[in-house]
Amino acid sequence: MSLKVTFAEKLIDEITDGKFELQQGVTVLISGGMGSGKTTFLLHLLDYLYADGREVVFWRGREVDQWHHADRRAQFRIFHHINDKVVFEEDSIRQYYELEPYRTVKEIFEKADNEMINVVYPPSLDWEAKYCDRNLITIFREYKQADVVKSDTLMTVRHAFWYSFIYEMMKDKRFCSLLFDEFDDIAERYCKGFKYYMVSFLMNSLRYFRQKRKSLYSATQVITDIDSRILGKIMYYVYMAGAKIHRESVLDKTKVKFADKGQAFIEDKNTGTWAKFEFPPRGIITPILVQLIREEEELDDELDGIVDLEEVV
Ligand SMILES: Nc1ncnc2c1ncn2[C@@H]1O[C@H](COP(=O)(O)OP(=O)(O)OP(=O)(O)O)[C@@H](O)[C@H]1O
Ligand SMILES: [Mg+2]
Repeated sequence: MSLKVTFAEKLIDEITDGKFELQQGVTVLISGGMGSGKTTFLLHLLDYLYADGREVVFWRGREVDQWHHADRRAQFRIFHHINDKVVFEEDSIRQYYELEPYRTVKEIFEKADNEMINVVYPPSLDWEAKYCDRNLITIFREYKQADVVKSDTLMTVRHAFWYSFIYEMMKDKRFCSLLFDEFDDIAERYCKGFKYYMVSFLMNSLRYFRQKRKSLYSATQVITDIDSRILGKIMYYVYMAGAKIHRESVLDKTKVKFADKGQAFIEDKNTGTWAKFEFPPRGIITPILVQLIREEEELDDELDGIVDLEEVV
C-alpha cells in the first residue's frame, strides 16, 4: 500500500470518527480559498476509493482537469458522448486511456465498474447534455410546477447532464462514489426556474445517499456558493485555508481561515466533532487538457430533436 493510500485511509477514518463503513454512503464538502489544495485532497480520496476496489468510482471530467494525477497504477475509462471526439492537448497520451462512448447516461452505468477510474464528460453541447436521455424530462414532470417553467429556461440550464447522472446513479444497486470538483456548478445558491427544481431533486437524492450506498465527495471555494438545502444534506465538511466555515460550526473561524497549506479541518456536522489534518502535496500538479469536439453538420441534424422535446415539456 502506498503512502498516499495509508494517508487517505486514515483520513476517512478520521472524518467519520473511526466508524466509517463502506457499506454506507457519505456526503462530503471540501471548501477553501483558491489554491488551498481542494483538488489535491480530492485526488487523495480518489486513490483511496480506487484502491479499495469496492466502489464504482466516478470523477467529474472537466476540460482542464487533474484526474491523471491519481495513483500511477490506476486505469482510466473516459466516458464521452458518442458524437463527441475527445482531443487531448498532447495526442501521445491518448493511448493510455480507454475511451468509452455513450449515448445515454444509462449506458455509462452499464459500462462503468470498479476496475477503473471512471471519468465522465458530459456532452460538449449544452442542450444535448440535457437530452442525452429522457430522464431529465421524467424528473421534470415529477414536479407539479413543471408547467410554469418555460422551455427556454430549460434550454439555458447548464450542467443539467449531472442531474440525469445522479438519477441513474441512485437506481444503480452498487456502491458508487462521485467525486465532484467545483460542486457549485450543480448546487448553486439562488438559482431559479428549472435549475431550482433540479437542485431540489439533488437535495432529495442526497437524503438517500447513505441508504443507497452512494457517496459524494465534492469541493467548492466558498460554501455559501452552495444552495442551503444542499448544505443541509452534507455530513462532513472539510475546511482548508481561506475557508468560510458553516455558521453552526464549532470550529474557530480565524484558525481555519489562516490555516497553512496542507492543513485541513474535518467536521462531522451531526456530532459537532472535528479533527485537524495535515495532507501531503502530490508533487507538481500539471493540468490535463481534454477537449470534446463536434462536427458542424451533425449538430444541425440533431437540433431538430429539440422541437420534439419542447413539446414534451
Ligand atoms: N499539502 C500540500 N502541501 C503543499 N502544497 C500543496 C499541498 N496541497 C496542494 N498543494 C499545492 O497547492 C497548489 C494548489 O493545489 P490545488 O489545485 O489542489 O488547490 P485548489 O484548492 O483545488 O485550487 P483551485 O481553487 O485553483 O481549484 C498546487 O500547486 C499543489 O501542488
Ligand atoms: Mg481545484
